Amino acid sequence: MKRLAVLISGNGSNLQALIDATQVGELEAKIVAVVSNRRDAYGLIRAEQANIPTLYFPLKTYLEAGHSREAYDADLAKMVLAYQPDLMILAGWMHVLSPAFLDYFPGRVLNLHPALPGQFAGTHAIQRAYEAFQRGEIEHTGVMVHWVIPEIDAGPVIATANVPIYTMDSLADLETRMHATEHRLLVEAIRGITA
Ligand code: GRF
Repeated sequence: MKRLAVLISGNGSNLQALIDATQVGELEAKIVAVVSNRRDAYGLIRAEQANIPTLYFPLKTYLEAGHSREAYDADLAKMVLAYQPDLMILAGWMHVLSPAFLDYFPGRVLNLHPALPGQFAGTHAIQRAYEAFQRGEIEHTGVMVHWVIPEIDAGPVIATANVPIYTMDSLADLETRMHATEHRLLVEAIRGITA
């Protein structure tokens, strides 16, 4: 059974989708650790409720002690390595990983991003897509799962799903539709990789 380490920074609804999928056998994998760079990430509570080991690893203390992001990334990698994961899943992990981390896990780190390849890289992607739709620049948006390279929301694409935007939509309507698509696509993508 493939061992997954999930890296999060917030609510963890995508982590929950993975937890639920592994519990009902929809995903033949084991989540061996949940790592957060934010102490108040609700995803840590989701992990504890599912009896999954958690690790809180803030960047701030590194920077305050005069250490570099690369030093943080390298130590983070060593911490994650201790759980012997086969696959690292970035599910709402809000920190750009450098080669100091990625070099420990070549071809084994994937990310979920709420936009289609080449569109709305970075933060607030759902809101930016919503505004672009309002300006008539796009007709729909989507979600992607991709392998991670040292570039924001780029790297070889594993899976994508288009998400419609309707004229009557509020931003909240679109966010709900996007997250539902993310939960499905992330499980499917990992199932395809771990099968
Ligand atoms: C998701 O939209 C993900 O694509 C993005 O951050 C959000 C995290 O949501 N990178 P959650 O914490 O899994 O609910």
